[in-house]
Amino acid sequence: MKPFIVVPDGFDKSLFEELKKTDSLEVHPTSKVSQDELKALLPKVNGLIIRSATTITPDLLEMAPNLKIVIRAGEGTDNIDKAACALKGVKVANTPGANNNSAAEQAVALMMSCLRNTPFANKTMHEGKWEKNALTGLELWKKKVGVVGFGRIGQIVTKRISGFEPEVLFFDPMVEKSEFNFAKKCHDLKEIFSTCDIITIHTPLMPQTKGMVTRELLSMMKKDAILINAARGGIVDEDALYDILKEKKIRCAGFDVFATEPLPTNSKLIELDNLIMSPHVGASTEEAQFRVGEMAVHQIKEFFVNNNLLNEVKAK
Ligand SMILES: NC(=O)c1ccc[n+]([C@@H]2O[C@H](COP(=O)([O-])OP(=O)(O)OC[C@H]3O[C@@H](n4cnc5c(N)ncnc54)[C@H](O)[C@@H]3O)[C@@H](O)[C@H]2O)c1
Repeated sequence: MKPFIVVPDGFDKSLFEELKKTDSLEVHPTSKVSQDELKALLPKVNGLIIRSATTITPDLLEMAPNLKIVIRAGEGTDNIDKAACALKGVKVANTPGANNNSAAEQAVALMMSCLRNTPFANKTMHEGKWEKNALTGLELWKKKVGVVGFGRIGQIVTKRISGFEPEVLFFDPMVEKSEFNFAKKCHDLKEIFSTCDIITIHTPLMPQTKGMVTRELLSMMKKDAILINAARGGIVDEDALYDILKEKKIRCAGFDVFATEPLPTNSKLIELDNLIMSPHVGASTEEAQFRVGEMAVHQIKEFFVNNNLLNEVKAK
């Protein structure tokens, strides 16, 4: 019998067609199935490719005794109970890196939006106003940019903004050198926060980075400085951010991620006109979605056809 694969959360059409053409796999014919349909398919399923809509719980695993692998088309595996999977011998994998460029570009987009206050310009134009006098922006050219977390995305941001001839200071305990002669390692977060014009956060969220951008650091920022977070909510102290923006102690912030998502409708951040926000869309581009799907298709074929498990994510 061929391994039976279900893709419950939707998928790029051409990639799904390619997957269905794999001779050695039986693929459920629709690339989006309801939770009830999924339940009915679970007793037979051998492989699942999911995004964020399906949650892999111990109950679901009980209903899927033949499941061998769950591939998360994307990076975050919070919606998969990895310990429960390990107990049942179900492998978990993700598709790391496929979103990196998109996340980096979102950080750059937020930077540019903050510098020129583009959302305000657009909003007021649509209200029939001509707010030219309120829209004197700042340039990115030759600015001093602090990159906190100089891993994959922090480095892509640095490369993408290189045309603006910035001076970059990066802070990262694990990275010593940069391939860019304009980017220098800095050992002191306080130096970054007190001297940079733009600071962009690109660390993971973990116990050491939770709340690492404290009120003290925010208070050191220059009056015209800009703070960007397209990494993870919770790295920046949001109460302190609110106060600092409310009192106009810095110029603007651009955030794609929040400590609680979706952002609660009563969040006080909503009232700030100098906070430009997007609803965690760093990875949401057509290109990234395609790359994520491409990797997932490759990985499920490798697993069932070549007995090769790529990008395994283990329970901690
Ligand atoms: N907005 C989005 O939709 C979106 C999409 C993809 C990734 N992300 C997020 O972007 C962030 C960066 O992802 P990445 O792929 O570049 O990760 P990465 O692991 O390649 O790089 C992270 C870097 O942070 C460094 N770091 C760890 N602790 C640090 C600390 N205390 N201070 C400074 N640096 C520290 C690490 O050494 C590493 O070099 C992650 O939080 C990720 O979840 C967001």
